[in-house]
Amino acid sequence: MSTPHNPPQTLTIIRPDDWHLHVRDGAALHTVVPHTAAQFARALIMPNLKPPVTSTAQALSYRERIRAAAVAAGYSAFEPLMTLYLTDHLRPDEILRAKEAGLVGVKLYPAGATTNSDAGVTDMRKTYATLEVMQRVGMPLLVHGEVTSPDIDLFDREAVFIDTQLIPLRRDFPALKVVFEHITTREAAQYVQSAQGAIAASITAHHLLYNRNAIFTGGMRPHYYCLPVLKREIHRQALVDAATGGSPRFFLGTDSAPHATHLKEHASGCAGCYTAHAAMELYASAFEAANALDKLEAFASFHGPDFYALPRNTDQITLRRESWTPPESYAFSETSLKPLAGGEVLHWRMALPL
Ligand code: DOR
Ligand code: ZN
Repeated sequence: MSTPHNPPQTLTIIRPDDWHLHVRDGAALHTVVPHTAAQFARALIMPNLKPPVTSTAQALSYRERIRAAAVAAGYSAFEPLMTLYLTDHLRPDEILRAKEAGLVGVKLYPAGATTNSDAGVTDMRKTYATLEVMQRVGMPLLVHGEVTSPDIDLFDREAVFIDTQLIPLRRDFPALKVVFEHITTREAAQYVQSAQGAIAASITAHHLLYNRNAIFTGGMRPHYYCLPVLKREIHRQALVDAATGGSPRFFLGTDSAPHATHLKEHASGCAGCYTAHAAMELYASAFEAANALDKLEAFASFHGPDFYALPRNTDQITLRRESWTPPESYAFSETSLKPLAGGEVLHWRMALPL
């Protein structure tokens, strides 16, 4: 560990993977996929397209479109890892096809919880036959852990989900592998840390760096709005402790979620923070602020593949201490995309390969 008087100038780690990513489809892929492929070897691609990715065949053709965008930008080694979208009607035999084809997870969106979740699950019981097969064949369930009932306060939706949905679900399927995605609360961190069995959690860079004040400071700042929404400072601190604490149950998942600028800066702005343009730089800032840069490699590069039972990467990346300013905006299909921390000075930068 370095002292503030002797800060490291470079950080070389095994190449990381992003275990939670939205890349959309079509022309948008050409903006966002190269950002991720420049940093990560693999990324777990979320299936919340319109319409959602509910069959293995759709996931495989989506994978080819993502790969083509990576190849076009010179990143032929980038590997998109694919997921299916769980609905009330996803059949158990689709899980067998997905497993056979190398898909790595099935995503649970409670209906109405977030962007493109209309087709999500209305009642967990309707999915039990499918979960049974997932448990049997070792297909992980990736959980957007929020209840959607309008009488539950928006800031409490994750904590209530643990008690009313997740604990009963894991009691009924004790051997099902579960990833509690993009956790945002102390309750979720504590639950994952202490629960029995195969459970892990991904943590975003923005939930490590910001608390909910970011959304409201100096006016409404829609680019900080995501779901689950940023929480109080005590929760941010609990997430930093979890991410930097060395437990193999916590790993990197950016939840980078691109939306066109005009749909973010809107009367009902979309949820999602775009961080893929500077993902590792943002995580490095968060880990450095906690004086835990030495814990970044395991969080970013080891714990994820270990949980998913995939090989760790073997090549390396280097981050350098360098002040630079990401652009305020990128071209995005016919529109634009504003990245988080665009126009702000960052103090770490990915080194380009020699
Ligand atoms: O903020 C979010 N954006 N949360 C999600 O769960 C979905 C994502 C998106 O797809 O935009
Ligand atoms: Zn997401």
